[in-house]
Amino acid sequence: MRTIVSLPGDGIGKVVLEEAIRLLDAAGFEANYVHGDIGWEFWCKEGDPLPQRTIDLIAEHKVGLFGAITSKPKDDAFNELAPELKSKGLVYSSPIVGLRQHFGLDICLRPCRTYKGNPLNFIRRGAGDTIEEPEVDVAIFRQNTEGLYGGVEWSNPPAQVHEALMTHPKFKKNFGDCPVEELSISTRIFTKKATERILRAAFEHAKKYGYKSVTLCEKPNVIRETSGMMYKMAQQMQKADYPQIELWNTNIDAQMMWLTKNPETYGVLVAGNMFGDIVSDGFAGLIGGLGFACSAQINPETGIGVFEPTHGSAPKYADYDTSIVNPIAMFESACMMLDFIEEKEIASKIRKAIAKVIEDGKVRTYDMMKMSGRPDVVEKGAASTQQMTDAVIAAL
Ligand code: NAI
Ligand code: MG
Repeated sequence: MRTIVSLPGDGIGKVVLEEAIRLLDAAGFEANYVHGDIGWEFWCKEGDPLPQRTIDLIAEHKVGLFGAITSKPKDDAFNELAPELKSKGLVYSSPIVGLRQHFGLDICLRPCRTYKGNPLNFIRRGAGDTIEEPEVDVAIFRQNTEGLYGGVEWSNPPAQVHEALMTHPKFKKNFGDCPVEELSISTRIFTKKATERILRAAFEHAKKYGYKSVTLCEKPNVIRETSGMMYKMAQQMQKADYPQIELWNTNIDAQMMWLTKNPETYGVLVAGNMFGDIVSDGFAGLIGGLGFACSAQINPETGIGVFEPTHGSAPKYADYDTSIVNPIAMFESACMMLDFIEEKEIASKIRKAIAKVIEDGKVRTYDMMKMSGRPDVVEKGAASTQQMTDAVIAAL
């Protein structure tokens, strides 16, 4: 039997993960779940939001199903540390970013697909005052370990760094007069290896699932070195290995503008870390937002994968007696996990059940009813998290 590492994390992560496991059981997926500690609680108690024992569990079992974690700013992180840990010079860093980097989970896939009948679907005005509801079906590949999220950054950079930067004529000209203690620098580093891997994953996905285009969504005309390298490599790869797939090149800013104009035109998109994050949130907004946005983080070489909804721990909803958040993003993430471990039939069964519940329209969480999230939404007719799970299970 399969062993899955369950990583509930904080806040609503705990709620939606439990519901996903209930659904997986009902759908006939047989697995052992071993619990992995992760999140804010372990930062406060142990000074480490990603304890080594959790890393060991993932290394052993390879597949993780993850809820969400809470991250707080630097000062709060320090203040909430257990008193005996305060003198140890510990610095908080996000356990998700830590997981990605530790296991080289550099391929992040975020699919966004329209569900028929979802009241949150994007609609737009067409010719002659008609209303159109374009069907979105995109797969966004986000490089997950480098770029602006690589963590190579300084405020008041050390002298060697400053000296090295001064050798660049543009730095000298534009920033050379700035006192070093007033400089904050975050680097955007791309390697050929990781760029090749994310591009390859995108093209392979397009080929496997019959998408006709791959869109590189960067800014090569301005960010010439990193985006420029990625574009050049994409062109070479397309020409050499994927002549049947079109390569489109859009700039991230323009892409966000076109998002609502013609989202149905796009198939696979690929981008660096930051722009991938942005464009995937943009597309997720067209198909229902955070209650629907799922993701996979994969290292294709080691076969390690962690699957999670895009949303965070939503602390304001975490302590409701009856949970009101939408578990579908978590369910979809569980389906991506099933695809990854070749349990495609169960994944497809669950997706069909979700589609049926949404199309029937009788059971809707508060976000789908456009309510603001308050404890009384269930009294007013919204489904609770558990009721949504029950409905999907009934539709299996
Ligand atoms: P969030 O995603 O937790 O919540 C933002 C808002 O989105 C919520 O107030 C709620 O209105 C809505 N929402 C989120 N999930 C929903 C769901 N399943 N159903 C219905 N509505 C939902 O983001 P926020 O408030 O910016 O961050 C809260 C905490 O989560 C922070 O500590 C942040 O660092 C962390 N976070 C963690 C992530 C992760 O674990 N992958 C990702 C994003 C934020
Ligand atoms: Mg995000």
